[in-house]
Amino acid sequence: MFGKPKKAHQWRGVINEYFSRLDVDKSTPIITLGEGGTPLVPAPALAKLVGADRVYLKFEGMNPTGSFKDRGMTMAVSKAVGHGARAVICASTGNTSASAAAYAAAAGIKSVVLVPEGKITLGKLSQAVAHKAQILQVQGNFDDCLTLARDLSDNYPVHLVNSVNPDRIEGQKTAAFEVVDALGQGPDIHVLPVGNAGNYSAYFKGYQEDFKVRRIKKLPKMYGYQAEGSAPFVQGSPVKNPETIATAIRIGNPASWDLAQIAREKSQGKFGAVSDKEILWMHRFLSQELGVFVEPSSATGAAGLYKASKTGESFAGALIVVTVTGHGLKDPMWALKDEAGNEITPEAVSTNAAEVAERLGLA
Ligand code: F0G
Repeated sequence: MFGKPKKAHQWRGVINEYFSRLDVDKSTPIITLGEGGTPLVPAPALAKLVGADRVYLKFEGMNPTGSFKDRGMTMAVSKAVGHGARAVICASTGNTSASAAAYAAAAGIKSVVLVPEGKITLGKLSQAVAHKAQILQVQGNFDDCLTLARDLSDNYPVHLVNSVNPDRIEGQKTAAFEVVDALGQGPDIHVLPVGNAGNYSAYFKGYQEDFKVRRIKKLPKMYGYQAEGSAPFVQGSPVKNPETIATAIRIGNPASWDLAQIAREKSQGKFGAVSDKEILWMHRFLSQELGVFVEPSSATGAAGLYKASKTGESFAGALIVVTVTGHGLKDPMWALKDEAGNEITPEAVSTNAAEVAERLGLA
């Protein structure tokens, strides 16, 4: 009655899916965990909130290690292995290290990760440990970790897989291709959180390539948002001691500074900053009103969009895509607090149905 079983279409990871549009050839060993192909989730509640025609969330928490980093890491590790590397290194606020560790494990090579001491979330640390990375907590911030990672990769036999490696940006640009594939056009505005601005630059690269081959008619405006205590692009210069609860984007000296400035200018986009309070408000809004659970940093783009609408920018008639970069399970503690910051503990009840019904307000 249902016919013969069909071979289900299986997404093959971004290198296989976009092979002809990436800097790879037949000799490149493809190390993949099936990354990419993430949902573009309609977000009507957010569209209503900001007064836009349509808003979609590109839900990058659905990647194999729970963040967008996997798109760049499949490229960076594949190319590293192609060049004969036996070990990769990265500096990280947590997600890059989780991804590097997983792809290195899949490739059968060693990974070394440098993280700022005490400043990465338990979820992310557990991933790096699970995938058997050699983890070093550095007495400094992310920017110090990156300087150290660059120094080590320049002078020792270890391959750098941070987004200063162009292979990372190359892989991450596939997210823009997917948005265009899903919508059949480009958005008017693309919004995302910014740390090193690697992802901001990568999306712009993807859209620019789609524009060149006439898959889209115009370049989306690129809107990048940072946390107020860690907003070098808004300040116009590096921030020495960045501070925010959004640890993933606690970065004072962005590695992709120049690329990002070009992307902002050419796309007629902008940078902005939001407070930790605004980030946490949007974090809750996305999970409660849209069913999309992200880590706080990942709510920064949507928080910035909301702030722009509140301060007078009109999005009437606009088609907007907002990238939410990492999964809520990476940093679950923020969901377990109410707006006032108090711990949320579920009520305990007996096994008596009448009593439970009463507690639930059903009786
Ligand atoms: N969102 C999340 C969840 C991130 O982990 C990061 C960066 C960003 C946004 C910002 O992206 O740096 O390309 O502008 N995390 C890096 C890391 C720094 O080490 O995991 P970006």
